[in-house]
Amino acid sequence: MKKVCVVGASGKLGQYMIRHCLDQGYQVIGVCRERSVGKQEAFKEQMTIFPGDTNNRAVIQKAVTGCDGVLTVLVPWGRKRYSTGTAQAVLDYAEPEARLVFSCGWHITLDGQDAYPASMKREERLYRWLGRLTGLIDIDDQVEACRRIFASPARWTVVRGSDLEEGESQGLPVWSRHVGDSILASNLTRRVDYALFMVTALTTDELVYEAPAIVGCQTPSALAHVATQEISR
Ligand SMILES: NC(=O)c1ccc[n+]([C@@H]2O[C@H](COP(=O)([O-])OP(=O)(O)OC[C@H]3O[C@@H](n4cnc5c(N)ncnc54)[C@H](OP(=O)(O)O)[C@@H]3O)[C@@H](O)[C@H]2O)c1
Repeated sequence: MKKVCVVGASGKLGQYMIRHCLDQGYQVIGVCRERSVGKQEAFKEQMTIFPGDTNNRAVIQKAVTGCDGVLTVLVPWGRKRYSTGTAQAVLDYAEPEARLVFSCGWHITLDGQDAYPASMKREERLYRWLGRLTGLIDIDDQVEACRRIFASPARWTVVRGSDLEEGESQGLPVWSRHVGDSILASNLTRRVDYALFMVTALTTDELVYEAPAIVGCQTPSALAHVATQEISR
């Protein structure tokens, strides 16, 4: 892995991913909305920025050409199919052998086997309703984006984030295939570590064609899982 593109580079997750990529010695390309280029001030000497909406196909084509990996922040903002347009452009223009890693939340399901708590289902219904009412978000667009990724032969991973918090790194999050697995019960990850998981996934073959649901490695549910494993050994 030498050259990596971060699509959605100006957000909190994007900026953490850029920092991790630079720390790991990758050449970094970034795509972010024109109005947000200023947020990249801290990195401007160390990376190349392609300004543009992340669903702008011409911008994505230029940005991902020659990249060994593409890290994409999938956001459900607006009602103009932003997530789907972003994912489709990356799928269409990334190099055939590139590792593609996408971010989303636990609400996305790969195989329908996730067991969501009632509170999460209520929250999702509320966001769908609010999205239709205000036009600000479109959860179904993120669902469609992921459906297209799951159907793609590209070497993808969709990293499903828990609730997020700021704070110092606690280390690489742990993951499981299904929401409802006891290891995930704490439902909290540091954003900096979510970004670390995304970047680590670029070089983790075990994660190709997986949609890991992640949780912080120091959360009570993750620690309890480790303790149970040690007892059973
Ligand atoms: N927040 C959570 O609790 C949570 C939980 C689980 C998973 N996730 C996942 O984590 C990822 C990013 O989450 P985050 O909370 O850390 O956010 P973030 O990194 O701050 O990212 C927000 C992104 O959305 C873009 N954006 C904002 N408004 C927009 C608009 N109207 N149209 C198009 N793009 C817009 C931002 O671009 P600009 O810089 O140009 O504004 C930025 O790239 C997403 O994939 C999300 O599904 C989040």
